[in-house]
Amino acid sequence: MDLSKELVIRREQPADYATVEQVVREAFWNVYTPACTEHYLLHIMRDHPAFVPELDMLALVGEKIAGSVVYMRSFILACNGIRYETLTLGPIAVLPEYQRQGVGRSLISQSRELARRMGFRAILLCGDPDYYLGQGFVPAETYGICNSEGLYMEGLHACELYEGALADAGGRYHEEDIYNVDEAAAQAFDRQFPPKEIVVGTPSQRRFAEVVASVSPHSLHQG
Ligand SMILES: CC(C)(COP(=O)(O)OP(=O)(O)OC[C@H]1O[C@@H](n2cnc3c(N)ncnc32)[C@H](O)[C@@H]1OP(=O)(O)O)[C@@H](O)C(=O)NCCC(=O)NCCS
Repeated sequence: MDLSKELVIRREQPADYATVEQVVREAFWNVYTPACTEHYLLHIMRDHPAFVPELDMLALVGEKIAGSVVYMRSFILACNGIRYETLTLGPIAVLPEYQRQGVGRSLISQSRELARRMGFRAILLCGDPDYYLGQGFVPAETYGICNSEGLYMEGLHACELYEGALADAGGRYHEEDIYNVDEAAAQAFDRQFPPKEIVVGTPSQRRFAEVVASVSPHSLHQG
């Protein structure tokens, strides 16, 4: 089933915050780690100066919030000495009962189009290649872009918002420290939500651990 024709994509409003955090918690629970921290991450991101409120979007099916996407400003310090301003996508989440029906695809395509119109150069993110390679992203390594520690990561992806936007941007990608979530603070935040079973060692957790571990030195450029 494809829901994309029935969806309304709109900006998140403060009245949506609590529901969207629940959506994010439901979507991420036990997927990449036992339990999850992304709902806490979203909760603290919105007040961060690098947060991009114009790209804070949600997907409605009828009256129900089925998914959401947010972005932060980030940058690449290129080997040519130039600092390239970029966007970082995430978290993106779709409620389990609405997954694989085009909601995530619509959230990405509509927010990406808006980002392009706003004049952003490119979107980067760390995520599962099985998903993002089908959404117009390519490995960041394609452009010679590595992480801030100088490592190519299998999970690091990039999407140019206009042709050639990253052509000279080989170097080190830097995202906000807020993505390194304080686990204890996230657990404390999670206690406000109804208890959920925590499962350890799922196939998706093992797959994520493989993607995270898949790094190689950034040898082509001295970024
Ligand atoms: C990942 C997520 C946002 C995708 O949203 P979605 O609405 O389920 O995805 P869509 O229905 O728009 O799927 C678009 C395409 O991606 C594929 N796809 C969806 N989820 C996928 C996954 N987890 N792995 C691989 N491919 C996936 C779909 O089959 C579809 O392919 P097709 O167009 O060839 O049929 C959603 O599944 C989710 O919230 N997952 C849990 C949280 C998460 O993983 N967030 C991303 C963090 S990196």
